[in-house]
Amino acid sequence: MKINIVKAASGKANVSALFFVKQSVQFSNIISEAATVQVESVLKGMVDGPFEDLELLEIDGTSTIFVNAAKERGISSLDHLRMAAYRLAKKAMARQIPVVNIMLADAADEQFKAIAHGLNSANYKFDAYKSKQKDNFQVTFEIVAGDKSSDFKAIEEEVAVEQTAVTLAKNLVNTPAADLTPEDFVENAKTIAKYTPGLSIKVRDVKQLEKEGFMGHVTVGKGSERPPYMVTISYDGTKSSSRAGKKSERTSADHLVLVGKGLCFDTGGLCLKPPKSMPEMISDMTGAATVLAAIQAIATLKLPLKVSAVLCLAENAIGNKSVLPGDIFTAKNGKTVMVDNTDAEGRLVLSDGLAEAGLIGATHIVDLATLTGAMVRALGYAIAGFFSNDDPLALNIINSGEASCEKFWSMPLEEEYADGLKDKFADLKNTGSDAGAISAALFLQEFVPADTAWAHLDIAGTAFVTKKWKYTEYGATGFGVQTLIELARRMSNATAASEEYKEI
Ligand code: BES
Ligand code: ZN
Ligand code: ZN
Repeated sequence: MKINIVKAASGKANVSALFFVKQSVQFSNIISEAATVQVESVLKGMVDGPFEDLELLEIDGTSTIFVNAAKERGISSLDHLRMAAYRLAKKAMARQIPVVNIMLADAADEQFKAIAHGLNSANYKFDAYKSKQKDNFQVTFEIVAGDKSSDFKAIEEEVAVEQTAVTLAKNLVNTPAADLTPEDFVENAKTIAKYTPGLSIKVRDVKQLEKEGFMGHVTVGKGSERPPYMVTISYDGTKSSSRAGKKSERTSADHLVLVGKGLCFDTGGLCLKPPKSMPEMISDMTGAATVLAAIQAIATLKLPLKVSAVLCLAENAIGNKSVLPGDIFTAKNGKTVMVDNTDAEGRLVLSDGLAEAGLIGATHIVDLATLTGAMVRALGYAIAGFFSNDDPLALNIINSGEASCEKFWSMPLEEEYADGLKDKFADLKNTGSDAGAISAALFLQEFVPADTAWAHLDIAGTAFVTKKWKYTEYGATGFGVQTLIELARRMSNATAASEEYKEI
């Protein structure tokens, strides 16, 4: 797939596509008069009637496709544009149409961004495990952008970086556990750090983890032949960037640390999962994949912010050395933890990730984890619940999500349930009350470094779908990658704004 931004239509197109991004669409100049009448009646139908069947319309022979980007129930108009673009691209590839032009001179920047994301996401496929691979048909989308063409070019470049990151996350998640062990994951992270300018990487193996007291990883990982690792990737965009050529002292000392749960597979351990819910556990490393992908994009986009990513990698397996229910270990921050249920392993590795975030000087921590089945039951596959101790950060996450067409819902860190985590022998146990997602968040809060803004994103429902959802046919959704990039963008803009204020 290729996206070319042009001022005016080149005349090479086999098909023209019109997105109804505005109520008053100017289509009469590109289609025949007879078709105009037809379109008008269809438009009227759209206003009056159900939208479902009017997504993609073909009128005027095969030469014009009309894409209805009107609002659908529960879907924002930007997301609807994404979905419409996705379907358009799928159709163009299936029909083997070489050049499609899209008339977008009327579109706003964020509308074009949504369309570009939608087109790109249609290109994703995961067929490495098929005996025969098939290339997607190469469609060129010619975006007719008029005066907006230079703005749209910059946006398109950004979208390409973001989509590369989304693809990386999806590929990691969709790869079976046998081919993506913690060690394989480390190799992937090393490759990314090597080829992305501005990233540095530190890897701790199980020996090092044990030596330094990161016992969450050691405890969870010891049942497997494939040992755990913790990876810290760092990026400092405040050093090299000088906006508009101005060398400026940065006033903000913000350091955003992204922590990801990276369970390459979660059998549940000795508290074994039932067979039905196990295959999906290849996605239990989505948090780590998401933060790795996000930091790759953040560095590529050269965002002027200090960002790190901590990947908590392990396999929760059954072996003769597996952690036993009732075992007690001492976490990095000195608190003792009784392992009540070996299937509540994510919070144990994350206790180390949160400690590492503190050690490297986080001012803001955002952790992502496929943490609880309770969250799946509460909010389903379309919304991720999150918990935060900091209102501005929480608002920033909701807004970054909305701009990325990813839904986040703020959940309560309700202290009343905290007593449920108390243990008779140890300071804490790893399971709590009935409120499973809240208990897990309260457990994590015990390990958040003092005076640090923190948010925990439970992406158990949104990470992986077993039936088609929006622009994912099956498997990893890439959910969260774009929100994290947008969050970093907003945090760096805030830094830049406060600097400008200081300069005045
Ligand atoms: N990885 C699972 C959570 C999960 C469930 C992710 C469904 C994606 C889809 C996690 O490690 C887990 O097993 N959590 C337990 C915790 C319980 C034992 C306290 C759960 O939610 O059942
Ligand atoms: Zn588990
Ligand atoms: Zn898990």
